[in-house]
Amino acid sequence: MPSQSPSPTIRTLASGFSPDGDWPSLDDVWRAAEPALRARSNDIHTPLSFAFAELLLETHPEADPLVVRVAILLHDSGWSRVDESKIISEGFRGDWRTSDVRYLHELEGCNIAREILPGLGYEDAFITRVTDIIDGHDTRLQHHSIEDALVRDADRLWRFTPTGIGLASGWFGKTPSQYHEQLKTGTFRELITDSAREIAAAELARSVELLKLDVI
Ligand SMILES: [Fe+2]
Ligand SMILES: [Fe+2]
Repeated sequence: MPSQSPSPTIRTLASGFSPDGDWPSLDDVWRAAEPALRARSNDIHTPLSFAFAELLLETHPEADPLVVRVAILLHDSGWSRVDESKIISEGFRGDWRTSDVRYLHELEGCNIAREILPGLGYEDAFITRVTDIIDGHDTRLQHHSIEDALVRDADRLWRFTPTGIGLASGWFGKTPSQYHEQLKTGTFRELITDSAREIAAAELARSVELLKLDVI
């Protein structure tokens, strides 16, 4: 991946930007999902990935913003129904991408979306578009729509921040600099859009600087 200093021209969190799209508030969905977001630090991961999804939407006006925003908000809610002791031992070690708990958190995330969203006024057809993205978001190899692509990119982008490196390095049992290698050689290559690659490079440059990842 390109090494790059955080540039003020790249609209991302590391260069001081916040999303400023004129989106309707989803606070009712956040509140309904709150108990489910307390598992596995999803109350940190999800808001950060939500911000990256909104930044990506600024450069992808062809995507349906409501589908993307609701899908990223709920995508990992299913971890709340996975046996906590298995989240790290099976979800982040060995063949973690195809472990049973990975599939289970996707399935339960779809169930939670179907439980929460009808009462907040969302129609069945919309809910299906959301669950089509949540289903397989970690285990499917390919994306099937621009909305799916933006959710997948946003899901990965938070990991390039100091917060993401801090949490995810622990989940994978790596030092921050070992996890830095995983980001450069694995996660970066999985990004789909040019916008996400630009954002990831800028976020990682800032994290290298702050966490001294090129020193320790
Ligand atoms: Fe996930
Ligand atoms: Fe996630």
